[in-house]
Amino acid sequence: MTLCVMGASAQKFENLAMTPPMGWNSWNKFACDVSEQLIMETADAMAASGMKAAGYEYVVIDDCWQVGRDSMGFIVADPVRFPSGIKALADYVHSKGLKFGIYSCAGTETCGGRPGSRGHEFQDAYMYAQWGVDYLKFDWCKTDGQNAVESYRLMSQKLKEAGRPIVFSLCEWGDNKPWNWGKEIGHLWRTTGDIYDCFDCEKNHGTWSNWGVMRILDMQDGLREYAGPGHWNDPDMLEVGNGGLSLNEARAHFSMWCMLAAPLIAGNDLRNMNAETLSILTNADAIAINQDPIGVQGLKVDAVDGLETWVKPLSNGEWAICFLNRSAEPKTISYDWKTKVVKDEFAKRELNGASQQYNIKDVWTKKSLGNTQKTLKATIPSHDVLMVKLSK
Ligand code: GLA
Repeated sequence: MTLCVMGASAQKFENLAMTPPMGWNSWNKFACDVSEQLIMETADAMAASGMKAAGYEYVVIDDCWQVGRDSMGFIVADPVRFPSGIKALADYVHSKGLKFGIYSCAGTETCGGRPGSRGHEFQDAYMYAQWGVDYLKFDWCKTDGQNAVESYRLMSQKLKEAGRPIVFSLCEWGDNKPWNWGKEIGHLWRTTGDIYDCFDCEKNHGTWSNWGVMRILDMQDGLREYAGPGHWNDPDMLEVGNGGLSLNEARAHFSMWCMLAAPLIAGNDLRNMNAETLSILTNADAIAINQDPIGVQGLKVDAVDGLETWVKPLSNGEWAICFLNRSAEPKTISYDWKTKVVKDEFAKRELNGASQQYNIKDVWTKKSLGNTQKTLKATIPSHDVLMVKLSK
């Protein structure tokens, strides 16, 4: 007897998201207020603003694009908000040299109460492949009684069977420790509940909370060894440019997401961003640190009185260092490389700026700060960073 094991060979698509995915998603700014016009204008803005040139690639519609299923069970897009249909929209995004992403949910309904993919996994995967979808964010609402590993594995297999390479973004908020099982199934997994547009607050909704940037950062402790090329921890999308963060807070948020090798998914209105927002989101040195090909997530090596020191090993023996001032006061640092030798057991790398001289470049001011033979002295404003790249 021959056993036909459906999808037994179906692992996730390999060689996708070899560096953290970069793009834009509608949710943080627009929630359910999505339309083909918004997505087209966003794609236009991504291409024209310098975002595309900086590396942003995926234009992702989050929840609320879908309204029902047809008599055959195929998913139906909102005909009022997406009158040209999703295929035409994907074609438009592709015509801009960008990639197109969409959202669904492992449960019976999405978090916004729209039809989920439960029981329609292959139909949905097939439809996405037909439309030319390149990225799928898959949520975890209305999943009572479902097993997370099985549910996400099922969709991963169906995407594989549908045959179009699609980055698979697992959005189950870290509830079932996806870092333990997500690597075989998807390319990134959310590690926390939803981000909130504040520096360090909790927005309590009773049974669940949204979290400010620093709260989310703290929830990444212990996860770095699970990330690497093709499989990333996802501390949620960016809030840069959404109004809840001051300029230095937005810079700190972006810097830390770069240090974490986090997906860089902008969540603001790309059609109407000011020069400061654009300059944060397109900082080439910060992005290069995020996109470094060895794909090692940064490590917190010190935290004293609200001042944290993070390091991230980079290719060619180089490093990024980020001093994060979480406190309400400015902080001065006096960093003597001789006494601050970092041993990164996970990456099997050692940073010794005294024995190996590095040149220091400030990622934000673009100025040289000398080299590691001398003690590095600086003052860091409240809720801001000093982020430097060490090169040989
Ligand atoms: C969940 C996700 C969010 C967003 C919404 C949409 O809360 O975590 O990122 O996709 O659902 O309803």
